Amino acid sequence: MTRHYSIAFIPGDGIGVDVLGEGRKVLDALSSLDGGLKIGYQEFDWSCEYYMNNGVMMPENGLDQLKGHDSIYLGAVGYPGVPDHVSLWGLLLPIRRQFQQYINLRPVKLLRGIKPPLAGKGLEDLDFIVIRENNEGEYSSIGGRMYEGTEMDMAIQSAVFTRHGVERVLRYAFSLASSKGKRKKLTAATKSNGINHTMPFWDEYVRKINSEYPDVATEITHIDALAAFFVTKPESFDVVVASNLFGDILTDLGAAIVGGLGIAPSANINPEKNFPSMFEPVHGSAPDIAGKGIANPTAAIWCAGMMLDHLGEYELAAVLMESLQQVLEEGAALTPDLGGKASTWEFGDEVCRKILGKG
Ligand code: NAI
Ligand code: MG
Repeated sequence: MTRHYSIAFIPGDGIGVDVLGEGRKVLDALSSLDGGLKIGYQEFDWSCEYYMNNGVMMPENGLDQLKGHDSIYLGAVGYPGVPDHVSLWGLLLPIRRQFQQYINLRPVKLLRGIKPPLAGKGLEDLDFIVIRENNEGEYSSIGGRMYEGTEMDMAIQSAVFTRHGVERVLRYAFSLASSKGKRKKLTAATKSNGINHTMPFWDEYVRKINSEYPDVATEITHIDALAAFFVTKPESFDVVVASNLFGDILTDLGAAIVGGLGIAPSANINPEKNFPSMFEPVHGSAPDIAGKGIANPTAAIWCAGMMLDHLGEYELAAVLMESLQQVLEEGAALTPDLGGKASTWEFGDEVCRKILGKG
C-alpha cells in the first residue's frame, strides 16, 4: 500500500541547509528501500536571507502555507546581521504557538558509536527523554521597557502559566512515562523556593496529574540540583518534564552529555495532530562553520527518524536509526566534531548506503 506524506521543507540559514539536505537524502533512500513510502516536499526559502530581502522571516500567510502539510522539517534559522529575537519571533515561535506544538520532545540518549562524554557512563546510563513546555511559561511576550536611555532604564517580562497549558504538558509527560518509560518514573523540574507564584502552581498540578497516573513514580526536583544530576546520575532519569525556559537550558545540557549539538534532535509536537508537527535539530545555524561542508548531519537525520515515528512509520524509523548508528560505530565517515575527517555529505551518503544495503 502506498503511503503519501507531504513535508514542508525549511532549510533556513547556515548549516541548516547542509544538514537538512542530508536528512532528505536519507528519507529518499528509505523510499527506495520501501516502494510504498512516497514523500513529497514543498521547499520554503524562509530564512534570514529572506528577511534581508523582504523585511519579514516568512510571508504574512506563511502559516497557512504550512498548515496542510503532514510535517515540517526545519534546519535552523538565525544569522549574524539579523537579531536573534527577530528570527526566532518571526518564524519558529509563531509556528510552535499557532500550531499548538506545546510539546518539545528531546531524547537524551547516547547513540552507539558515540564516545560517552561522561566518564564511567555508557549506553545504559544515558537514555531518557526531556519534555519541554513549548508554548507559554517564561517565553511570553508580556512585558515592556521604559525610560530607555535614562538613569531609570528598566524592563519587565512576565511568565505565563495557565492551568490548560500546564495540565496538557504534564499529562503528555506522565502518559509517556507510564506507557514507554523503562523506569516508569517522572521528574518534574521546579524552583518553587525562589519563584514563589508560578512554580508552586506548577508543582500543584504535577501532584494532581500524578493522581491520574498512580503507576508513575514522581519526583519534583529544583532545577539547579536537577542540572547537576544530569551530570552526576543521568541513569536515574526516565522522563523529565520542565517549563519552557528550564527545559530549554536542560536540553542543551542533555545534548552535551550525549555527544554535543551535532547529535541532538528535537520534535515540536502537536499531540492532537490538528496541525503539523515540526522536527528540527537542537543546534543553530553555526555561522562559524557554515559553508565549509563539515557540519555533522546526525541531529538532522535523527530528526527525520523522529518525523517518521510521528507519522507512524515505525519500521522505517528503526531502519534509519540502525543505519545511522552503524555508521557512527564504524567510524570511517565521521565529521570533524566527532574526531573524523569526513564531510557532511560523505556522512549522509554512508547512512544511505547502509539503508540501501538492507534491501
Ligand atoms: P549553534 O548551535 O549554531 O552553534 C554552537 C556551536 O556548536 C558552534 O561552534 C557550532 O559550530 C557547533 N555546532 C552546532 N551544530 C553543529 C553541527 N551540526 N556539527 C558540528 N558542529 C556544530 O549556536 P549559536 O552559535 O549560539 O547560534 C548561531 C545562530 O543560530 C544564532 O543566530 C542563533 O540564534 C541560531 N539558533 C537557531 C536555533 C534554531 O533555529 N532552532 C537554535 C539555536 C541557535
Ligand atoms: Mg536552546
